[in-house]
Amino acid sequence: MRNPPARYLQTLQEHFATAPTWFSSSDGMDTLNARVPATGASLTTNQDGKGTAFQRWFHFKEAFSPSFVTAAIDSLGYRPTHIVDPFGGSGTSAITAQLLSIDATTVEVNPFLADVIKAKVSQLSAEKLRHAAVGFQASLSGTRSNILRLSHLPPTFIEGPDKPRWIFPLTVARQLSRYLTCIDQIVDAGIQRFFKVVLGAVLVECSNIYVNGKGRRYRRAWQENQPTPEKLDALFALQFNTSFEDVLRFEGRPRSRINVIHGDSRIALAQISEPIDLAVFSPPYPNTFDYTDIYNVELWVLGYISSSADNARLRKETLRSHVQISRPYDAPKKSSPLLSRTLDALKHQQSQLWDASIPAMVGAYFRDLEIVLEESQRLLAPSGKVMMVVGDSRYADVRIEVANVIGEIATDMGFGSVTVREVRQMRSSAQQGGRLLLAESIVELRS
Ligand SMILES: C[S@@+](CC[C@H](N)C(=O)[O-])C[C@H]1O[C@@H](n2cnc3c(N)ncnc32)[C@H](O)[C@@H]1O
Repeated sequence: MRNPPARYLQTLQEHFATAPTWFSSSDGMDTLNARVPATGASLTTNQDGKGTAFQRWFHFKEAFSPSFVTAAIDSLGYRPTHIVDPFGGSGTSAITAQLLSIDATTVEVNPFLADVIKAKVSQLSAEKLRHAAVGFQASLSGTRSNILRLSHLPPTFIEGPDKPRWIFPLTVARQLSRYLTCIDQIVDAGIQRFFKVVLGAVLVECSNIYVNGKGRRYRRAWQENQPTPEKLDALFALQFNTSFEDVLRFEGRPRSRINVIHGDSRIALAQISEPIDLAVFSPPYPNTFDYTDIYNVELWVLGYISSSADNARLRKETLRSHVQISRPYDAPKKSSPLLSRTLDALKHQQSQLWDASIPAMVGAYFRDLEIVLEESQRLLAPSGKVMMVVGDSRYADVRIEVANVIGEIATDMGFGSVTVREVRQMRSSAQQGGRLLLAESIVELRS
């Protein structure tokens, strides 16, 4: 085995000084490589800020680290056989479990992110991927652009005569259409998914926008500094090589059973019947941050959503941590005196809230987490536990103490041991003065 599980974290963090490069010009046939430095140094530069294997396949700011997952596993005091993550995100728990040879189930509602996870844990052959890269380069140079391939995109996406702003210049959109056509032609579903994820990883960097917790913003002086098709080619090839390196390096990893469910964990967890030793997860925080917005460019361009109805459907399937669409709000069934006081305080400040449904949303947020905890409790082996990372929020000076509320609900649900540990202080929003006011905590529950 190339990487024994015991050395997993160490090897994840120590990359080759010089990486193998499969988008190489060794056969002299591709046009891409003329623009792509095939040296380890340039790949290393690309790894800045994302130096961990697999984590670097897609920049997912909200991910926890593999060491959190291994620490949670270690803290069980025995080797688990099955772990679950109901909020898979970029797949940190799934890939960590796989590398440790532990079976895992993960649920992720966002179809692009579900594909990121599947790509990471699927048994891709490096040799097949290398062949596919060569074929892809050849097919790309023989494929004409077809802007109709992107006709499903909202008007703001592509440059046009009467538009004041656009996410992609027409030249880049044309090049994207060629990539998408060539990806469509890949027959092997696993390889096709890998290429899609690589393209998804470079889309925002090849656009006129950046995305942060407040949504989309146009880059400063974007009109003068628009991306080019050459930039897309270079970034795609670099990202391909980076992700490929992990496939190659960890090709001999253990193959435990990793079940990736694309769906809403409030419903999907009910499908699981195999007991779990650990539920380890970080749900969205109740800060009105909607992941559907944050990963919107990837969802639209890669065709995971192709209408505003699709967009609204996805929003409805996400946890009630935001107020972008109206939907019914119900409160948790179990009691939390702290939650009741918090909701009263929010109602008292109603006129200060930027959206009238915030108090109801906060209640419903805890109902959603309660559903996930009910399912975890049903599945939990007698010696198992739940480890969740949660963060507080604040509206009009009312603090939503998520960990403490969860602690009360879990106690009322019958969890025998409830521990809350604050791990970090998060900066509150600029509107709140950007002070360090919000706690991020680990909630640990045992039967
Ligand atoms: C904080 S992130 C999880 C990050 C993950 N721990 C990692 O390391 O990548 C929360 C995730 O929950 C997902 N999510 C939101 N609502 C969901 C739902 N109802 N069912 C499943 N996943 C959901 C979001 O799309 C997001 O990817």
